[in-house]
Amino acid sequence: MKIGIIGAGNIGYTMAALFTKAGHEIAISNSRGPDSLNDIIDELGPSAHADTVDNAAAFGEVILLAVPWRSPEALPHPDLVANKVVIDAMNPYSADSQIIDLGLSTSSEETARRLPDARIVKAFNTIWFKTLAQESDPYKEDETKLAIFIAGDEPGAKQTVSDLIRDIGFAPIDAGTLREGGRKLQPGTSLYGKPFTQTEAQEALQQA
Ligand SMILES: NC(=O)c1ccc[n+]([C@@H]2O[C@H](COP(=O)([O-])OP(=O)(O)OC[C@H]3O[C@@H](n4cnc5c(N)ncnc54)[C@H](OP(=O)(O)O)[C@@H]3O)[C@@H](O)[C@H]2O)c1
Repeated sequence: MKIGIIGAGNIGYTMAALFTKAGHEIAISNSRGPDSLNDIIDELGPSAHADTVDNAAAFGEVILLAVPWRSPEALPHPDLVANKVVIDAMNPYSADSQIIDLGLSTSSEETARRLPDARIVKAFNTIWFKTLAQESDPYKEDETKLAIFIAGDEPGAKQTVSDLIRDIGFAPIDAGTLREGGRKLQPGTSLYGKPFTQTEAQEALQQA
């Protein structure tokens, strides 16, 4: 699958490495332009290339958002992700690492407002990038695979993201809709930032 990655930092780069290793083609982007990503592309190999944010979005059948949530200018033009599955891995932190209070809303609902025709699935936002890098193993026994929570409103989009999660050796766990499930995955919740096996994740989800 072709995956456009917006953001080439901790999460963007880690996911690019996992997706290329799993056989996907990726375009990766940042704020400083493709030339600043030459070293990363050397490391990722021939199934990766660097591009602008909008070109990476246009390339991807699936798009991963891995930029600061507080910087909407980092997102691709909405038309370029219309009708595409867009994975929102972002969390609402301010520049001084405080959780931004969104009142009754949640960060992925706000992302959905910014990209109104995208098929948004919240995923990968609760797991530390180093855990992703270290625990990815498609050959692990299912019981020992770590969980990746997802939330979204469209079953088909969730299925696509779940398949990608399995490709890189994790177990998808459906937390529900973007609103109700997404709320359970926000910073500060009991599910946030902790590694869970799938059984542990199901139990923790029931109590969340
Ligand atoms: N770190 C984690 O373990 C973790 C886990 C789950 C979710 N997340 C979420 O994932 C997102 C990224 O976190 P991170 O730790 O990967 O951050 P990071 O290492 O600081 O990387 C941020 C990336 O976003 C790019 N960026 C920033 N402003 C941009 C703009 N205006 N246009 C285009 N690209 C822009 C940066 O590009 P330049 O370097 O060129 O500015 C950089 O590649 C955040 O929302 C975070 O909450 C992080």
